[in-house]
Amino acid sequence: MRENPFPSWPQPTERIKQEVAQCIHEEGWGIGSRVIDRLCELFADYHDSKYAIATNSGTTALWVALKAAGVKAGDEVIVPAYTFIATASSVLLANGIPVFADIDIKTGNIDPKSIEEKITSRTKAIMPVHIGGSPCDLDSINLIAKKHGITLIEDAAQAHGAEWNGRKVGGIGTGGCFSFQTSKNMTAGEGGIIVSNDEPFIDKCFSYYNCGRVREGGWYEHRHLGGNFRMAAIQAAVLIPQLDSINDFLTVRESNRNLLVSAMSNIDGITPLEQYPSVTRSANHLFICRFDSSHFSGISRETFFEAMQAEGIYTYQGYKPLYREDLFIVDEKEYPWLEGIDYKNMSFPYTEKFSEKESVWLKQNYLLGSSQDTQDVINAFEKVTNEMRNNPNLFLNREKNN
Ligand SMILES: Cc1ncc(COP(=O)(O)O)c(C=O)c1O
Repeated sequence: MRENPFPSWPQPTERIKQEVAQCIHEEGWGIGSRVIDRLCELFADYHDSKYAIATNSGTTALWVALKAAGVKAGDEVIVPAYTFIATASSVLLANGIPVFADIDIKTGNIDPKSIEEKITSRTKAIMPVHIGGSPCDLDSINLIAKKHGITLIEDAAQAHGAEWNGRKVGGIGTGGCFSFQTSKNMTAGEGGIIVSNDEPFIDKCFSYYNCGRVREGGWYEHRHLGGNFRMAAIQAAVLIPQLDSINDFLTVRESNRNLLVSAMSNIDGITPLEQYPSVTRSANHLFICRFDSSHFSGISRETFFEAMQAEGIYTYQGYKPLYREDLFIVDEKEYPWLEGIDYKNMSFPYTEKFSEKESVWLKQNYLLGSSQDTQDVINAFEKVTNEMRNNPNLFLNREKNN
């Protein structure tokens, strides 16, 4: 059904080229560059936050934020079991213990009930993710964090521009971290940023991202175990113009999502992920829906992927449950503070059902196309699901022979 590619990403513009050209004539291409300060001011402002610190990746932003939240060896941090590895690996890198919580299968986001069940006296932080750019249930999670005196750090790596109750995500928790890695809705190839409305927190972030220096201290004065996790000026120059174009891209993404959601309401067995009622804007970084094989005579999701691929539409599973990653077959010599934590025998019913049987992802650039491009995606979904319903044996026999 489709041979043409979808819009490429990232998209270079004249404005980006000009900013970069100007930036290389700046004094200093790194720390202290006015270009980096400008990005921080503009991004913080766009994200309804007072402060921002630009880092060299989303992963280092998470690590810095966790350290600033006071995570020390053996402290527990609650994270969703369904997310990109960095949400959990940043906890390990801070010598903390990633404690997984299950997801709300309707939205793909962390389930606040599961968070509550995981709280212990060692819980230092909750780090939910706005999965695919769709905000998690921030009101419920905030309440839990406040009730137990735990810090809330938002992993907003995929959620540039997303809003909860009319307020941009990131600064709703104590701090929020974004990624500018090449696939993200705003990108410099690599990079990250932490936003916050909490001055003492951001001052601690400054120290951890800047080799352990403190704001009022000297260049060779180091009070914490930090690192050089700073962004370069040229990355900031690539990003600044994108703050002027992001809203237009978000509008395109939203309109394509609406077309997909509306078409899928007529396809039994395919259900788009829902958004919570308080989501006033999703970043629609990814489009994710659920495949229910019981509507298709038990034909597997993987066979559906193959049939979609034959129509020129690439769909895929996305994440697996993080506790199933080899990383979590823990070597206790390397991670002694994880002794006795049994990731191997962990099991979360919704994470597993979603990841292993149901999740269907579309790549982020598919949401950047025209309405005709999106119609091609819809046509492929309709064609493949109709064929699976009308001629299931064709697919089931193919599965048997594979
Ligand atoms: C949910 C989530 N958290 C963290 C990260 C880490 O960001 P980065 O790749 O910039 O280190 C990513 C990005 O890939 C992500 O999707």
